[in-house]
Amino acid sequence: MLELKEQIKVAVQARQHAYAPYSSFAVGAALLTEKGSVYPGANVENASLGLTICAERVALAAAVTAGERDFKRLVLVTNAAPPASPCGACRQVLMEFAPELEIISVNLKGEQVNYCLQELLPYSLKF
Ligand code: THU
Repeated sequence: MLELKEQIKVAVQARQHAYAPYSSFAVGAALLTEKGSVYPGANVENASLGLTICAERVALAAAVTAGERDFKRLVLVTNAAPPASPCGACRQVLMEFAPELEIISVNLKGEQVNYCLQELLPYSLKF
């Protein structure tokens, strides 16, 4: 299983590829599957601001495209203090695949906050 440290490195590296000219808020994500693969994501902004895609959803879409369905842990890297938590839209999209997902948010100072998705999105929509 991929060590947390290694997963954080993947997210830090992904963050370097963030395209965030409008907010200047670069976000990196790394999504670990149950089998131990990791998928990076970075936020991709757009002049039509609402079309921006968050790092978490980029990582999830890449993983699902590769055939993955089972996810263990998401790492998020920002320069926010305290470390940022996923936006509401990302919480809902992650919930579709991984209600039990662990979420580790870190910042560049090395501060870390741990969440589980259930606590960030209680009473979520399910069919
Ligand atoms: N953003 C993410 O990528 N993930 C989050 O969890 C919070 C917000 C991005 C969207 C936008 O590009 C920028 O951060 C500011 O909101």
